[in-house]
Amino acid sequence: MRQSIVMGNWKMNGSRSEGIELANAIIAGLNDGDKGIAVCVPSVYLSDIEAVVKNTPLALGGQNVADHESGAYTGEISAFMLKECGCTYALVGHSERRTYYGDTNESVAARFCQAQKEGIIPVLCIGETLEERESDTTFAVIDEQLNAVIHMAGIDALANSVIAYEPVWAIGTGKTASDEQAQEVHKYIRQQIAAKSQAIADNVQIVYGGSVKPGNAKAIFAMPDIDGGLIGGASLDATSFLAIYKAI
Ligand code: PGA
Repeated sequence: MRQSIVMGNWKMNGSRSEGIELANAIIAGLNDGDKGIAVCVPSVYLSDIEAVVKNTPLALGGQNVADHESGAYTGEISAFMLKECGCTYALVGHSERRTYYGDTNESVAARFCQAQKEGIIPVLCIGETLEERESDTTFAVIDEQLNAVIHMAGIDALANSVIAYEPVWAIGTGKTASDEQAQEVHKYIRQQIAAKSQAIADNVQIVYGGSVKPGNAKAIFAMPDIDGGLIGGASLDATSFLAIYKAI
């Protein structure tokens, strides 16, 4: 049985005090033995949130990680720095990074590798745009995004990662992929991995992202190849985020 996981992605929202309050409110709704819940917070607040989540079931993640180990890369945050701030996870290749900041399949693969070098679990975000879906290239896009990582990191590296399928057209739009649409792509991703390693395919967590809310979470998470969610908007409210977590 794969352990499910629900991850919040706060993106560029809130203040320090709001973040601390939100993390505290999430923790207040968890029990000691809970697992499979994390928040990816703005990097400047990582240390503040680390202090709150320490010794609680709530894990911490960065929203991005540099594609180099260290050096003259102004504005970037290294995997080592994330590790020092208590991160277990780092998002790599979120569609907002790919769309607005020029992250390419190759740089995403390099970020994936840098995270793993420091023992951080990369959460590899992949997914097609509306145009790509409408032109029937969803699977081709998924192949390219996934294969770039497999090519650079090797198939075995996927054993220590999470994959997030996030159709770009469903992110922050209120449009969710139907349960069947999401399942179809999750199954496809797992099959592509299985072609290279059945064991890794059986164990890798593939989570869905894109307008997951308390009202639709249960049906989405019930799909056989969906192992949880990456939650944007609804993760900014503790009650909603906890309700989604409890839907697992
Ligand atoms: P959303 O964001 O839940 O607001 O659609 C998901 C994401 O970008 O990870």
